Amino acid sequence: MKVLLIDDGGLFGKVLRDILITKDLEVVNITQKKDAMKILDEKPDEIGVVILDGGISLNDHIGLINHVKNSDRTEYIPIIFIDSYNEVVNIEEFLNIGVYDYLKKPFDNGIFYLKVKNAIKYYENFKKLKDAKNKIEKMNLNLRENYRRADELNRRLEEKNKILGFLVDARTEELERMTTSLISALENANLYNDENTGKHIIRVSLYAELISEKAGFDKLFSKKIKMYAPLHDIGKVGISDNILKKPGRYTEEEFEEMKKHVTIGYNMIKDSPLPKLAKEIILYHHEKWDGTGYTNGLKGEEIPLAARIVAIADVFDALTTKRTYKEAFSLMKALKILEDGRGKHFDPFLLDIFFDNIDSVLEIREENKDE
Ligand SMILES: [Fe+2]
Ligand SMILES: [Fe+2]
Repeated sequence: MKVLLIDDGGLFGKVLRDILITKDLEVVNITQKKDAMKILDEKPDEIGVVILDGGISLNDHIGLINHVKNSDRTEYIPIIFIDSYNEVVNIEEFLNIGVYDYLKKPFDNGIFYLKVKNAIKYYENFKKLKDAKNKIEKMNLNLRENYRRADELNRRLEEKNKILGFLVDARTEELERMTTSLISALENANLYNDENTGKHIIRVSLYAELISEKAGFDKLFSKKIKMYAPLHDIGKVGISDNILKKPGRYTEEEFEEMKKHVTIGYNMIKDSPLPKLAKEIILYHHEKWDGTGYTNGLKGEEIPLAARIVAIADVFDALTTKRTYKEAFSLMKALKILEDGRGKHFDPFLLDIFFDNIDSVLEIREENKDE
């Protein structure tokens, strides 16, 4: 950085300039206040120290000091004032308005050089600190901007998620409506062919949901059981009325024919988008825990859970209601038959759940009686 030396163009100024030049400093020597101001205005970054030598008027000195101090770009450039006014100048006042250092004539050349050199060093360090501070401020600013943008993005994301949530809910609702109407269409087909009333389907559905919920299975599973249990006998549309509506017991042949409702039902929906659970209920609701059921002779936990649940619900309802081939059994007799089927026909764990919640079972039964 350069030394801006302002003096009256006399011999003393030359001496000062030579002292600095012969060492290692670059000097810009100015004799007019306005020229000095021009340099300070146009190339402030080149100047590392300003030396004011007496000779120009005291007012010019003060004017220059104020000019340096009043600009953001020069206010910290150190000013060294060389006092040649003797008693006229109040040094304290000069230091007060921001002069960095002063020298009184006569002075030692070496000390003069060191004072100038130190002032430049001081200013260079000051500028480094200032640059670092600016960088930190800029980083903070960027950081704040990034935080602001992240907040904005989060807000937008939340809004988007909200909209997506609405769409998903609407879609799910629509899908459920479609599924429900499909199921009720299938149920209606079933009603024409079965001796059962629609209430059988509703009760089986509610018993099955109750068992699933009380067994602690998740809500979605219980909801699906409730939704698809009504489909368990849809295959009966494929069984002739002679068999379906036959009073009294089936012959072995007739029973074999009746058993087909399971596979007929399964074939009806196997290629549909209905969930696996619905297909399992239809295909396996006549399997028995000990493997003696139909159609696949599955045993224990080989039988899908939903089918094991529906089996209990379906048999309980068949026992406690009137059919063309039998009167309704008393509750005690029906419960005894279920209990006898523990580990044979029914999953013992699920049967326990059913008995533990018999009060709720009976409430469902009462609320959904056949007309
Ligand atoms: Fe069935
Ligand atoms: Fe049934």
